[in-house]
Amino acid sequence: EGEEVSILAFCDGKTVIPMVSSQDHKKIFDNDQGPNTGGMGAYSPVPFYLDEFKKRVLEEILKPTVEGLQSEGREYKGVLYAGLVLTKEGPKVLEFNARFGDPETQVILPRLKTDLIDILNAVIEETLHKINIEWKNNTAVCVVLASGGYPGKYQKGKVISGLERLKEMEDIIVFHAGSKLQDNKVITSGGRVLGITAWDKTISKAKERAYKGVKEIYFEDMYYRKDIAVKAIK
Ligand code: GLY
Repeated sequence: EGEEVSILAFCDGKTVIPMVSSQDHKKIFDNDQGPNTGGMGAYSPVPFYLDEFKKRVLEEILKPTVEGLQSEGREYKGVLYAGLVLTKEGPKVLEFNARFGDPETQVILPRLKTDLIDILNAVIEETLHKINIEWKNNTAVCVVLASGGYPGKYQKGKVISGLERLKEMEDIIVFHAGSKLQDNKVITSGGRVLGITAWDKTISKAKERAYKGVKEIYFEDMYYRKDIAVKAIK
């Protein structure tokens, strides 16, 4: 029992470098109620992911995993995603994914200062130990806009409006997922349609900015959680 935290790390087979922390919101309804989804929103960093957890996750989880893979002749290069629970006894692994996380990536990459291509080249060339990965000293919040009915049955083909207005706003970006372009219109084509990510100095300001952006977007039956990042602010 405890809070969930996602720790993604770059790995070149030998060196493992964790990215900044983030937290997903897996349940469909506010206050973590209802069925699980692919993720209804995220924020970064996670205030209760304290330095003592950071150290233990690196030394007791990430490094031994990469070394274990290496000793079995399965050198792992890429992004290692550790889904963790911060229990009273310390961090425990819920799951590993061999990929970036969704929607965690939507709050992690906007905070990256270093060029992602340089990092990925270092992963390929096994030179991660030589690279200094820098992060912005800010926070980010992503709110996922879903089709009403998701994760159950939902309709597709709804016209999305407001995307142009969002382009004019500062420190906010739209990530497209279940959407597509048809006859010059952007329409819904999946359960999780868009991710609206905003960044600012504090999580509370980033949340406010993200929800301000959400208010500009409309499609019929649009659904989103109203409490993304509330836990971090509390
Ligand atoms: N956010 C959960 C995942 O990417 O698996």
